[in-house]
Amino acid sequence: MRFLAAFTLTSVALAARPFLDEPDTGIDDQLGQIVANGSLPPLESLVGLPDFQWAARHYMNVSAYTYYRNGAAGEWSYRNNLEVFQRYRFRPRVLKDITNIEASLPTTILGYNFSAPFFISPCARGGYAHPDGELGLVQGAAEGNILYMPALYSSKKMNEIYAAKANNSEQVLFQQVYLDGGLNESQQLIQQIEAAGAKAIILTVDSPGDGIRHRAARYSVGSANTEYSLLTWELYHQLSNMTSLPIIPKGIQTVEDAREAVNQGVKAIYLSNHGGRQLDSSPSALEVALEIYNEDPEIFQQVEVFADGGVRYGADILKLLSLGVKAVGVGRPFMYANIYGAEGVARVAEMLKYEMANDAANLGVADIKQIGPEYVNWKSTNAWYS
Ligand SMILES: Cc1cc2nc3c(=O)[nH]c(=O)nc-3n(C[C@H](O)[C@H](O)[C@H](O)COP(=O)(O)O)c2cc1C
Ligand SMILES: *[C@@H]1O[C@H](CO)[C@@H](O)[C@H](O)[C@H]1NC(C)=O
Ligand SMILES: *[C@@H]1O[C@H](CO)[C@@H](O)[C@H](O)[C@H]1NC(C)=O
Ligand SMILES: *[C@@H]1O[C@H](CO)[C@@H](O)[C@H](O)[C@H]1NC(C)=O
Ligand SMILES: *[C@@H]1O[C@H](CO)[C@@H](O)[C@H](O)[C@H]1NC(C)=O
Ligand SMILES: *[C@@H]1O[C@H](CO)[C@@H](O)[C@H](O)[C@H]1NC(C)=O
Ligand SMILES: *[C@@H]1O[C@H](CO)[C@@H](O)[C@H](O)[C@H]1NC(C)=O
Repeated sequence: MRFLAAFTLTSVALAARPFLDEPDTGIDDQLGQIVANGSLPPLESLVGLPDFQWAARHYMNVSAYTYYRNGAAGEWSYRNNLEVFQRYRFRPRVLKDITNIEASLPTTILGYNFSAPFFISPCARGGYAHPDGELGLVQGAAEGNILYMPALYSSKKMNEIYAAKANNSEQVLFQQVYLDGGLNESQQLIQQIEAAGAKAIILTVDSPGDGIRHRAARYSVGSANTEYSLLTWELYHQLSNMTSLPIIPKGIQTVEDAREAVNQGVKAIYLSNHGGRQLDSSPSALEVALEIYNEDPEIFQQVEVFADGGVRYGADILKLLSLGVKAVGVGRPFMYANIYGAEGVARVAEMLKYEMANDAANLGVADIKQIGPEYVNWKSTNAWYS
């Protein structure tokens, strides 16, 4: 008896909570029948970003959905990206005048005006969700007046994507690239990007090797970039010499590389572990931002810092901003939302703005640009064991 009781207590104490890829918010009960008939639920019936994953999982075929959903290897980094935000509790302040909070959403990114400090991260193969592919992402971004970064390995051609810009010129896009050493080829690509009208080049540096993606390998929908790539600071400068556009390294994962990038003269750095799709066990952007904040916080003043990975709620964005991050990327939720085309993409942008403003208000923040690290308890609560 005593042994049993002790055993029970021990197993309760050590039981990890199950990982919830899609939190249970009741969507199955309400919309399960609709998707069972092969239909998309009405857009108005979706209430948050996780709902778009649920809709996409039911609507897309398994190989296409798997390409979007997949993470590297055991998907530990994929899960950590999602869970890490809940390890740090807010420290809400009360009795603050927050009535002007919405006016503090707009911001600048590399000097360009946008309606909010979040953007659409570069994701390949937009055509898996919708025949219009990336055109829905450009147009949805325009509708929400947010930044979109088209990926090099897009389903639509670069020219078509840039031709879909609102008013064909005013909308600002940054272009993601993989450039790996072929200088002549890189020069031609950079000229193409300039001609298309991109305002910055996002150079992905976290993928010099192929991503080990087991879930994706079952359907042969692995990384779009599988070759070993020669990526060095020397190459960075050779590329910078070819263009007046800023080249922003995407995939910075340590304070050392953040400092190195600043010393090499970059205008911005982009913290990311590629949505947990590249090196499993790599840190989430929130953990990297925290490392920079603890060890070399001046970096946040010296360059603009972008960050992405696992952001599903307005509150997640607030936590990144509180450390000094300038703009936060969201990948999969916008890709899933594109099953509805531009309308779905714009709806996600609207939801995130609403959540950000209201959560900032509940947190007692009067001005989102003034949010600081004091609004979060940075002692990890290790919430996954209880
Ligand atoms: C379907 C898909 C394709 C992606 N393709 C690229 C790519 O071509 N280049 C790149 O730098 N990052 C790529 N990423 C990573 C995203 O830019 C971003 O870092 C990641 O999606 C952020 O995590 P989240 O999806 O949890 O928001 C891709 C991500 C997804 C989900
Ligand atoms: C789905 O199909 C079932 C069975 O044919 C039907 O009873 C139900 O009304 C349908 N639901 C919708 C939302 O079309
Ligand atoms: C950006 O916004 C600022 C402040 O609202 C404004 O002064 C400036 O003209 C805007 N810049 C552009 C390029 O629209
Ligand atoms: C799945 O959907 C994608 C995108 O529509 C399509 O290209 C692909 O052929 C489909 N695959 C299967 C097995 O149906
Ligand atoms: C496009 O132009 C129209 C008319 O000038 C303007 O009202 C609208 O805001 C512009 N759209 C964007 C996304 O700039
Ligand atoms: C670069 O490419 C162009 C066009 O393909 C070609 O004419 C040129 O000779 C190449 N230059 C080098 C140095 O390889
Ligand atoms: C960049 O161009 C400048 C001026 O032409 C040159 O001095 C420098 O060596 C070049 N740097 C690289 C890395 O190619």
